[in-house]
Amino acid sequence: MGVRAAGPDSAAVKAGHREYLFPCVTPYYADPVVVVRGLGLKVWDADGREYLDFFSGILTTAVGHCHPEVVERVQEQLATLGHSSTLYLTEAQVELARRLAEIAPGRLRQSFFTNSGTEAIETAIILACMYTGRTEIIALRYGYSGRSILASNLTAHSAWRPLPTTVPGIKHALSPYPYRCPFRSPCDDTCVDAFANDLEELIVTTTNGKPAAFIAETIQGVGGYIVPPPGYFQRMAEIVHRYGGLFICDEVQAGFGRTGEHWFGIEHWGVEPDIMVMAKGIASGFPVGATITRPEIAAAWTTKTISTFGGNPVSMAAGIATNEVMVRENVPARAAARGKQLRTGLDELGRRYGWIGDVRGMGLMQALEIVEDKQSKTPNPKKAKGLLETAKDEGLLIGLGGLNGHVIRLGPSLLVTEEETADALARMSRACTNVDRS
Ligand SMILES: Cc1ncc(COP(=O)(O)O)c(C=O)c1O
Repeated sequence: MGVRAAGPDSAAVKAGHREYLFPCVTPYYADPVVVVRGLGLKVWDADGREYLDFFSGILTTAVGHCHPEVVERVQEQLATLGHSSTLYLTEAQVELARRLAEIAPGRLRQSFFTNSGTEAIETAIILACMYTGRTEIIALRYGYSGRSILASNLTAHSAWRPLPTTVPGIKHALSPYPYRCPFRSPCDDTCVDAFANDLEELIVTTTNGKPAAFIAETIQGVGGYIVPPPGYFQRMAEIVHRYGGLFICDEVQAGFGRTGEHWFGIEHWGVEPDIMVMAKGIASGFPVGATITRPEIAAAWTTKTISTFGGNPVSMAAGIATNEVMVRENVPARAAARGKQLRTGLDELGRRYGWIGDVRGMGLMQALEIVEDKQSKTPNPKKAKGLLETAKDEGLLIGLGGLNGHVIRLGPSLLVTEEETADALARMSRACTNVDRS
């Protein structure tokens, strides 16, 4: 398929971006990419250059760009009913909620729709406080929860916190970060006891002993795809429950089959959260956030609330079409297979280069932690940024993360093929060779 002949003038878009948008809306790359079109794993820029997209607009185009079934369903819905608000019922909202209940773990059954992960987090926290009648929240260091005042206070990456602490009652436990484990090197299953002790001590010493909730991403995404050790969530959930709080699981990045084998990352640990938060891949690019919980918890929200655009029929249609494709294509199994292929290739790069300190992740959520050298493990953001640029030179879009922006993150569409995965690995390999020389 050809590229649109008359695209925007990329220089004008870049100048307009500088002039009319907040400077904090910072794009990747010294020379930012002006995207004009996407299809599957491919995107094209305003100058007609083609890229293989292995970051999916931050793990969001879950069934690829402009999937024909999503496009068709959205067009149909937009031409029929484009907006309703939550004052009226729509079949689309009920249908997406029903589908989420079908794939969510355990007894999670009732959803509240918003427009972003941030809002879904806010919903989860307020709900946990209303249900428990408590206000103290435990989050994790290296965690990312979004950009509102509450979500940025839950976030424990200083670079993503625009204000000093402004929301009281939030405490941060140690991150289960095996590569930089505070207890043992290499980190092993016994460290779970130490992380559990830290949580319990945090509750006992810094709170009134009555937490409303413990919130955690199953894999810390912005943190650089930090995967907690086996047994971790079982222990953490047990402790927060013992102190009468809820376990809120953030599946904004790890949900919808991305980690392979299961629909949600937390299922790898066999734990049923009390509240689960979803966004990003849920509608393959449409703005949808969802908070799902058990009916008795949902019932605790007794005051009025409204989300004008939450449950918008067009966004719901995108979510339904995305879900249909995901179920039919069995994306958890696909992500497991392609994830294994991707990991094998990345492991090889990890063995080849001294500046790749750690290769980690699950399924199609794989990362490289870039360091000065394997011995010192000193973060090397300059090299990571260099790799981002050399990958772009190879026509490959990838992402950054980690506390210092020193972790390379990959997260392609869950429909990525074997050939596309091999192609991405070949491009990554050339990008690594080039950055190694620089
Ligand atoms: C784990 C996690 N939670 C919440 C959010 C916030 O989502 P949004 O950017 O849609 O508000 C993000 C965004 O990156 C995220 O990665």
